[in-house]
Amino acid sequence: MKLEDIKKIGVAGGGTMGSGIAQIFAQNGYEVVVTDISEELLENTKRIISLNQKTLINEGLLTKEQAEESLKYISYSTDKSVFKDADLIVEAIIEKLDIKQDYWKEVEGIAPSHCIFATNTSGLSINAICSKLEKKGRFIGMHWWNPPHIIPLIELIKNDETTDETVEVLKALVDKIGKESVVVLKDVNGFIGNRIQFAVYREALKIVEEGVATVEDVDKAMKYGPGFRYPVLGPFETADLGGLDTFYYISSYLFNDLSDVKEPTKLQQEKMDKKELGVKTGKGWYDYSDGKDEEAMARRDKNFFKMLKNIHNQ
Ligand SMILES: NC(=O)c1ccc[n+]([C@@H]2O[C@H](COP(=O)([O-])OP(=O)(O)OC[C@H]3O[C@@H](n4cnc5c(N)ncnc54)[C@H](O)[C@@H]3O)[C@@H](O)[C@H]2O)c1
Repeated sequence: MKLEDIKKIGVAGGGTMGSGIAQIFAQNGYEVVVTDISEELLENTKRIISLNQKTLINEGLLTKEQAEESLKYISYSTDKSVFKDADLIVEAIIEKLDIKQDYWKEVEGIAPSHCIFATNTSGLSINAICSKLEKKGRFIGMHWWNPPHIIPLIELIKNDETTDETVEVLKALVDKIGKESVVVLKDVNGFIGNRIQFAVYREALKIVEEGVATVEDVDKAMKYGPGFRYPVLGPFETADLGGLDTFYYISSYLFNDLSDVKEPTKLQQEKMDKKELGVKTGKGWYDYSDGKDEEAMARRDKNFFKMLKNIHNQ
């Protein structure tokens, strides 16, 4: 199997992630078929794709003509049998292990033997998701980040039997669609990105819970300090530029002081109990009432687009 052999891509689940994934493949000239469990949900998929494309057009990252052309490549179905001639299937259905396992078992009976199977799970074990399959070498984690039509990273996660060929084909595909891949060599919780993201969140919670700083100042410190570096330097590049001896000495007194809690923290539990869940409930660490939720999301996307253009040259 080579990159050129991928002609038709199946996307299972047309929700938040599946819509953007289908859109990106279609915008890169691939024939895509999206499946979901009802026609109504597929109408919602079309609506999300149209909204995503509008933002790209407004930012000058896509023309109206390109958007219209790409829509011709996408078809929709509630019947999995449309996967019978797919060369790649990306699954973005509900994050429940037993449902994903049974789903893939069923798809194995439909898809051709050369077809690559990829799951967009956020963190379930790739080995566990494919445990019921006969051929596991073609199975891989393909973790897109939300919003998938904007964020460049796609993590490719090997299960214990994923073949090098499967990895190489998907690496080439990610490159072709203008995204950036990393290969996660072992099937570990959180892959790379979420392990780092949650290590930061755990420490941020500790700083606030111990009264060291406010939520606002933790966010500010991140954005104007470490976060200012991260779009251009990873943690290892940062250490090289800072000096590994200095980073060693700092580690020798600081590591011992950092959070190593094994469960969600008390403050997180309080937020759960009060249903202060962020934008979706109008309050989280900040207030999102009276349209401040939409402002926050618009500000985020505007700045994401600035980064895409100015740092990632898109
Ligand atoms: N939302 C995120 O930020 C994010 C980021 C990365 C990865 N993911 C992962 O992507 C996957 C999808 O997440 P989402 O946020 O798009 O969820 P979502 O709820 O928005 O969409 C899931 C879609 O799958 C459909 N679905 C459920 N069972 C199905 C079935 N048997 N056949 C076909 N369609 C089915 C649902 O009807 C729904 O439309 C999950 O595994 C999730 O963990 C989510």
